Amino acid sequence: MLRFIKFAKDALLAFPLTLIFLPFSRFFSFLYYYNKLVIWIWKNKGDVTYHDFYSPFRDYKKRYALYENILQEQKLKEESICYLEFGVASGASFKWWLEHNTNIDSHFYGFDTFEGLPEKWGSFDKGAMSYKIPEIDDSRAKFFKGLFQETLNPFIQSHEVNITSSARRIFHMDADLYSATIFSLSQLFPYLKKGDLIMFDEFSVAMHEFKAFDEFVSNFYIKLRPIAAVNNFYQICFIVE
Ligand SMILES: C[S@@+](CC[C@H](N)C(=O)[O-])C[C@H]1O[C@@H](n2cnc3c(N)ncnc32)[C@H](O)[C@@H]1O
Repeated sequence: MLRFIKFAKDALLAFPLTLIFLPFSRFFSFLYYYNKLVIWIWKNKGDVTYHDFYSPFRDYKKRYALYENILQEQKLKEESICYLEFGVASGASFKWWLEHNTNIDSHFYGFDTFEGLPEKWGSFDKGAMSYKIPEIDDSRAKFFKGLFQETLNPFIQSHEVNITSSARRIFHMDADLYSATIFSLSQLFPYLKKGDLIMFDEFSVAMHEFKAFDEFVSNFYIKLRPIAAVNNFYQICFIVE
């Protein structure tokens, strides 16, 4: 039997009949990850203390209620934190965290091309969400312009002292794209430690942030426990265990 399977697989390389399914492959892939997402939500929602599942309509402003919940529950208002945001755009979420943490020793690092998305994301074309680097009058904030694929590793090398300090770390994944999210998570992996917080802004987008999350936890054998979510798990926060 095994011999036949191997024979058939090799034969399909030489006579690629599977290509008749090519027009449907993206749809099958979407279904695969969407079902994984559904199963993940139903399996984990009972353990998440703060969530709104199921709400018929999304309200993007709810993400600020999520941040507030994390700030209070994790006691981050006055604590020294190291906040890293991947995908800054106009700086809306970045500024929220900057304004709501009062510790003068905190660090806030924002990464973005500041030239928009490097590739198409759903109905958003390449180059969408292009903003100038936000002008912020707070010396704790620093921005790194360019692709994460080019800026993150040099950043880690030059700021290792800050990101490995005892300050509470928050990693905010808000780049929307699968490529950007999986790249950032995998580069940050060696530095992650128990108690770190990882937020996703578009977690329930099956083929992008969810796919990156799913691959990250299964391939790196890392345990991320969901602690709070809004908008039917569109925005979510995990704690590293
Ligand atoms: C949804 S926006 C960020 C929104 C922002 N956090 C807010 O609260 O308004 C996504 C951003 O990710 C950036 N981005 C996506 N992939 C990137 C990559 N590989 N490198 C750098 N920036 C990227 C885009 O330029 C875009 O500005």
